[in-house]
Amino acid sequence: MKTQPGWALPNLHEAQKRTQKEVTIEKSLFQIPSEVRTLGQGKKYYLRTYGCQANERDSETLAGILEELMFTPVEHPEQADLILLNTCAIRKNAEDKVLGEIGSLKRLKRSNPDLIFGLCGCMAQEEDVVQVLLEKYRHVNLIFGTHNLHRLPELLYEVMVGHKRSVEVLSKEGDVIENLPVRRFGKHKAWVNIMYGCDKFCTYCIVPYTRGKERSRAMADVLQEIRQLKQDGYKEITLLGQNVNSYGKDLHIEGGFAKLLEETAKIGIERIRFTTSHPWDFSDEMIDVIARYDNIMPFIHLPVQSGDDEILKIMGRRYTNAQYLTLFHKIKERMPECAISTDIIVGFPNESEGQFQHTLDLVKECQFDNAFTFIYSPREGTPAARMADSVSLEVKQRRLAELNACWNQYAHVKNEAYLGKVVKVLVDGASKKKANVWSGYTETNKLVNFTGEHVTAGDIVKVKITACKTFSLDGEQIL
Ligand code: 5AD
Ligand code: SF4
Repeated sequence: MKTQPGWALPNLHEAQKRTQKEVTIEKSLFQIPSEVRTLGQGKKYYLRTYGCQANERDSETLAGILEELMFTPVEHPEQADLILLNTCAIRKNAEDKVLGEIGSLKRLKRSNPDLIFGLCGCMAQEEDVVQVLLEKYRHVNLIFGTHNLHRLPELLYEVMVGHKRSVEVLSKEGDVIENLPVRRFGKHKAWVNIMYGCDKFCTYCIVPYTRGKERSRAMADVLQEIRQLKQDGYKEITLLGQNVNSYGKDLHIEGGFAKLLEETAKIGIERIRFTTSHPWDFSDEMIDVIARYDNIMPFIHLPVQSGDDEILKIMGRRYTNAQYLTLFHKIKERMPECAISTDIIVGFPNESEGQFQHTLDLVKECQFDNAFTFIYSPREGTPAARMADSVSLEVKQRRLAELNACWNQYAHVKNEAYLGKVVKVLVDGASKKKANVWSGYTETNKLVNFTGEHVTAGDIVKVKITACKTFSLDGEQIL
């Protein structure tokens, strides 16, 4: 069993070259070596996930692998023999949270000297972070990246049997592995990876480095997974990719994502969602398919990042304010009921007051249903991190507060439009606080808390909306 140490600082030139190269992505099979199969017998694992849906889905694979090795899950780190943190690198505060957590969990080693601390995910793909972990967090004895989840059995074997510190971070993405075990965390909603990586290289973003080149899964494999999920009783699936619109470009799949969406819809699973879509390659065919199929949910996450043309250009976003608005209105014209959410970054290097104002103007025009707003966070190795920045943190914080007040006001107005309407809600579960109160999501992805008598998690029920808040709706079940 060999480890392949070696990690590389994110390198824009090297990484970008990969997009011009034709790369053959090999499909390969996951196997657990026989000597490792009972490694987790009698042992418990605690897994914590940070960050986006891609990480959530990776954690389902990690849990699946660990349980094949006979580990059992526990709810609290204090009960565990293995603590595994699946980390996020998108902004510095996400990383600080993880480092704080590793520091505070170190105390558990005193009462359990054999405790294994593992760190994986996007932070493990960053050279500077791995160096800090190796030097300052000596209790972390297992580190692996996003490209080699399938190597977890061998890496754990090295730590548990070989009593070594095991570090394996590959700076190049690997094969698309199809038969990895999975323990789905949800019973009614499931994530389905359709592709890995990102080739867009927005200048602020670490993802193209931590998640590697875009690689699509074969359409037949994706559709087979969805058929199985339907058979297993799942009601909703979310197709996942950093930019789902790019699906199939690397494999030259005719029709690309629109075709995959349509084939997915035909399987007849009740609810289909997808995330995330880059405005640059959101095709008319996609709009058409979403509009034509009732089981593709009328909800689109369409990150704009900024409303200013100059900033968009420096961010490398490949569209202007006007082009974004054209797409936005095209979607709304074809599907007036479609909810649209967005991501926005404030305080990109040297963003002026006037440029920020352009973002506010765009928010006022679009009146998004929901928005995820962030202060720009420099990420080592990305082009934007090398730019000098004249904007103070106070100014950035003030802009974020102003932006939030602005979009919240419109989100509330959007929710008011639901008052008195009857909507279909996929029930997530019962309220922990109140009897006969349930919660779930509408087709447009609005959170609804409602009263009802004959309700079970996983049902799709009709609910009349009786009150609205900024981030949720209240209602009562209609029989
Ligand atoms: N700083 C702040 N926000 C970022 N995002 C990505 N990179 C950064 C960064 N360096 C935001 C973008 C993206 C979302 C997932 O995270 O808005 O759409
Ligand atoms: Fe990052 Fe841009 Fe890719 Fe999204 S599309 S993951 S923001 S590089």
